[in-house]
Amino acid sequence: TGRRKLIAGNWKMNGLKAQLGEVSAIGELAAGRPDIDVALFLPATLISAAAPLAGTVLVGGQDCHQEEAGAFTGCISAPMLLGAGAGGTLVGHSERRTYQHETNADVAAKAARASQHGLEVVLCVGETLDTREQGDEAAHGWVVDQLLASLPEGAGSGWLTIAYEPVWAIGTGKVATPAQIAAMHGALRDALVEALGADGQAMRILYGGSVSGDNAADILHLDNVDGALVGGASLSAAKFAPIIAAA
Ligand code: G3H
Repeated sequence: TGRRKLIAGNWKMNGLKAQLGEVSAIGELAAGRPDIDVALFLPATLISAAAPLAGTVLVGGQDCHQEEAGAFTGCISAPMLLGAGAGGTLVGHSERRTYQHETNADVAAKAARASQHGLEVVLCVGETLDTREQGDEAAHGWVVDQLLASLPEGAGSGWLTIAYEPVWAIGTGKVATPAQIAAMHGALRDALVEALGADGQAMRILYGGSVSGDNAADILHLDNVDGALVGGASLSAAKFAPIIAAA
């Protein structure tokens, strides 16, 4: 396909300085796999300490505000991420869409701002259990609409990666089936090609939701699955290692 695989970890609200050894260890794992990309989306408080330890691993933030600067208490801007040593950011994770009430328009604006500062972006989409229970076709339509509404101006495969994460599979141990994943990624690929032309073919689409060493190989070898976005199993190098090995 020509698409390089990306194995990305998202530490969410986990990780203190005592865990920085895991970043170094994951850096060593990545050094052994120059054929793939590895990224770690860390709590903002760890980025500046982690970046020099990470080797070829792209260190990123978990969110990025759409404005450059200003009266937005508690928020983090793209220039701040960059200044701390980040090379990228997540946007639109379902936990931010749910708990911080981020809309598709917010997500698109965040992605555009991050890219303006040269950050790589992983933009997350995915349906809830309610939508999935309406059937596969309904789920595909819903997620494609969410993707198209979240896609930033100037979206390009050079800086943007999509992550499909069914909300019902996140942190639940309930992984989507290979058939469900392949069908959704196919629908997302079609939508990207329709929206972006040839570049939609080049854009990576990751799967996320209870990925582990046990199921990674089955997922990563599916058509249109260009990597994984891993939560729990990215917190230690020991659990992350078999996922990197399966890519
Ligand atoms: O961003 C990562 C996902 O939300 C998946 O989390 O691997 O703990 O299910 P999980």
